[in-house]
Amino acid sequence: MFQPDSVIPDFPILQQTIGGRPLVYLDNAATTQKPMAVLLASRHYYEAMNANIHRGTHHLARLATETFEKARQTVANHLNAASSDEVIFTSGTTDGINLVANILGLSGRIKPGDEVLISTLEHHSNIVPWQMLCERSGAILKVIPCHDDGTLDQAAFLSLLNERTKILSLTWISNSLGTVNPVAEMAAAAKNAGALVMLDAAQAVAHVRIDVQSLDIDFLAFSGHKIYAPTGTGVLWGRAEILNALPPWRGGGEMIKEVTFKKTTYNELPFKYEAGTPNIEGAIALGAAIDFVNGIGLSQIQKHEQALIRSAADALASIPGIRFFGPADRAGALSFNVAGIHHYDLGTLMDQMGVAVRTGHHCCQPLMARFGMTGTVRASFALYNTQKDVDALAEATRKAVSMLS
Ligand code: ALA
Repeated sequence: MFQPDSVIPDFPILQQTIGGRPLVYLDNAATTQKPMAVLLASRHYYEAMNANIHRGTHHLARLATETFEKARQTVANHLNAASSDEVIFTSGTTDGINLVANILGLSGRIKPGDEVLISTLEHHSNIVPWQMLCERSGAILKVIPCHDDGTLDQAAFLSLLNERTKILSLTWISNSLGTVNPVAEMAAAAKNAGALVMLDAAQAVAHVRIDVQSLDIDFLAFSGHKIYAPTGTGVLWGRAEILNALPPWRGGGEMIKEVTFKKTTYNELPFKYEAGTPNIEGAIALGAAIDFVNGIGLSQIQKHEQALIRSAADALASIPGIRFFGPADRAGALSFNVAGIHHYDLGTLMDQMGVAVRTGHHCCQPLMARFGMTGTVRASFALYNTQKDVDALAEATRKAVSMLS
């Protein structure tokens, strides 16, 4: 059984105190902390091989290129992609979703009156790019509603699917509520209706095993920084067949085969979608982060985090006026409010007790509006959290509530 205490020393940032108390970091849905293996991979890149990739023939350029491409293969293996050509390095989930929305728009596949389907649970990053696509193309944005427990209304979903549905773009795990969507079933239903399917795996990537070949999907995006890698890294996975059929988006170096002033021809996958010098060090560090996670095992991590979330919900449940959002079998995040107390005030006092949580709308204003609130307090978990962190969360919440009541 995985023991978090054995990995905590790998995370230098967790060794500090805040206001004289040990840091309790429970804002992992916003970003995760980085282990030494990742920090060293970044540093090693700059110390040993910093050079631009796929360009020079000198030693450093070859070493950097090989190491970067090895990281791509690590990602491909982790996702069980059919080929590393399907792995496009991006700056994060937002970048990946914008890429897909833009290339679909440029392809002319989205016509006036077509429909783009998302859900009430989406992060702004999986709303706004589609809204922009709809504004440009005349398509209509449709939204799957959710029940009061934060699960999606599956009957409504099925009734929203029709021959005009061009794409379903869905979060796997809600960053706000921790709802785990039944993505395999929903993807199959959408494909049956003739739609493309994209998954926002920003949260899922650190909590569940992803197998893109066993899911009937076309695109999946995630951010490196949610899985212990640096910010400004991410991946768009896309089925080669569909990516080959879609046009490029950003123009520049690397994405070309031949440029003349008359006409440019484009590179093969994945380079067609990687214009400009990428975040080389970040991609290499992302490979190191994935190796780190696989060294522990996602199923161990998942079991550990699930136990902590359940324990946190139990420990907080007796606080008078507390209301949890999201279903009981949530993953990653536990969101709550306390009657009569503003989430921001609660979070500020908890911070003074060394407990880092996020408060506010979590980049999900439409979801907050659905529940008639402006925000929540969100505690979100990672592999290095322990029962001690849960105890500190409960104690800080209790104290803050009594100070504010
Ligand atoms: N998407 C990140 C969060 O949920 C920023 O906090």
